[in-house]
Amino acid sequence: MSLPAFLDAMRTRVEPRVIVSDPEAIAPWLTDWRGRWTGMSALLLQPSSTAEVTAIVQAAEAHGVGLVPQGGNSSMVGGATPPSDGSAVLLSLRRMNRIRSIGPDHAVAEAGVILDTLQQAAVGQGARFPLDLGARGSATVGGLAATNAGGTQVLRFGTMRAQVLGMEAVLSGGLVHDSLSGLKKDNRGVSLDHLLIGAEGTLGIITALRLRLVPGAVQRAAAWIGLAGPHEALALLRRLEAATDTIEGFELIPDPSLARVLRHIPQTRAPLASSAPWHVLVEAVTGAAEEPPQQLLERLLGEASDLLTDAVIAQSDAQTEALWRLRHSISEAERAAGPAAQHDISLPIDRVPGFLLEEARLVEQRFPGTEASGYGHLGDGNVHFHVRAPAGAGEGWADSTEGKAVSAYVHDLVTEAGGSISAEHGIGQMKRGELARLASPARMQALRAIKAAMDPRGIFNPGKLV
Ligand code: FAD
Ligand code: LAC
Ligand code: ZN
Repeated sequence: MSLPAFLDAMRTRVEPRVIVSDPEAIAPWLTDWRGRWTGMSALLLQPSSTAEVTAIVQAAEAHGVGLVPQGGNSSMVGGATPPSDGSAVLLSLRRMNRIRSIGPDHAVAEAGVILDTLQQAAVGQGARFPLDLGARGSATVGGLAATNAGGTQVLRFGTMRAQVLGMEAVLSGGLVHDSLSGLKKDNRGVSLDHLLIGAEGTLGIITALRLRLVPGAVQRAAAWIGLAGPHEALALLRRLEAATDTIEGFELIPDPSLARVLRHIPQTRAPLASSAPWHVLVEAVTGAAEEPPQQLLERLLGEASDLLTDAVIAQSDAQTEALWRLRHSISEAERAAGPAAQHDISLPIDRVPGFLLEEARLVEQRFPGTEASGYGHLGDGNVHFHVRAPAGAGEGWADSTEGKAVSAYVHDLVTEAGGSISAEHGIGQMKRGELARLASPARMQALRAIKAAMDPRGIFNPGKLV
């Protein structure tokens, strides 16, 4: 690796504005959102065109310099944080932030377009971009595709993979893969789009995406429900799904997580007058000619009263937003509440309630003083399973011998139950060892062979995933 030679090559091939070497300007991008990993990078490259990305990739390969693609830096697994030895440089896609075209059923957006910006642009077309998550103000569409992000509408619309209709990406050699024309049928072998989705920047740099938009929501309403536990929550989901196909979100929240939100996030208040050990946030979206969603939820929740202890239905968009704000603030509140080992797991859906009750107790018994619980996307079989540290543990507890033993134990339980140790956040640097430990030989062999074939010089996001 030769950084000075790489820099010289860059200077001859891209405009000066692309190359940032001021350590103060680089510093904010070296630490991840959780504050768990800090890396080093002598340069921050900020291309604003695909041609500039090509020039960067070619120079990086020629001089053996790693590139760490970064969008909004909201990764939960240290995926966009460079290695700490300074052997790679940051490649920010944030300046590639044009929406190249948009219509009622699709948009072509550059990788650095922020989710919130795309959502608003879709509304301008009478449409919706059907993916949402708490980091909507910073996460970019490139990052969402690179991690195959999920969020709170997967139940109805699928993960980011289902939203990608085409892609432009710079691969090894600076070669540009372009499927932005969005062919509905294209069987020229393995789909490169689908290889790059979820590859976490380890196979190439996504520069633009053709994304699906769906018809604008005409009427939406959310309800906040108190109930006895996850089994009741899953039974409620099954009943709602049997009665209607309008349920877009179904999120499970244990009371301690709600309490942390109310403690840490300003201007929040409990939605229900009564207390409940578990909560569900459900959203229904109906078309103009259909039963209004408030009425629908009132009727269906009334019929399911044996499963609930209490419920409140939002009567306006502002009330719906206020309920969602509580949900989307959980990760911020959990971060503020002290050290915890965090796991983004998925299981066959029927096994989730048992895991949240029985396996959680197993963890607490094995590691005295810990408190295990999970929240999140029950309808997708995906919960964020947090094990809070015993009282008095330091901030770095998750990385301590005990914290790592907790995570290994949780991941073993998940694997035994036929689940995944990474449902939606990816592997990044956080779970690389755990993936290698627990994934099947077939999976690891294929992942390593694909990486070697598509990144022969090892420059794309070194140290992540495999
Ligand atoms: P970054 O964090 O910058 O990068 C993420 C990964 O993608 C890295 O490996 C990076 O190298 C790679 N990458 C980024 N851009 C490109 C590109 N153009 N080409 C190739 N590789 C690239 N995730 C969910 O799935 N569901 C949730 O509900 C959810 N909620 C969240 C809530 C909060 C408050 C926060 C902070 C995060 C949440 N996340 C969630 C995680 C995060 O928002 C997603 O992983 C998101 O997709 C990351 O987007 P980003 O632009 O910030 O990417
Ligand atoms: C959420 C993030 C952590 O669901 O994925 O809140
Ligand atoms: Zn989530």
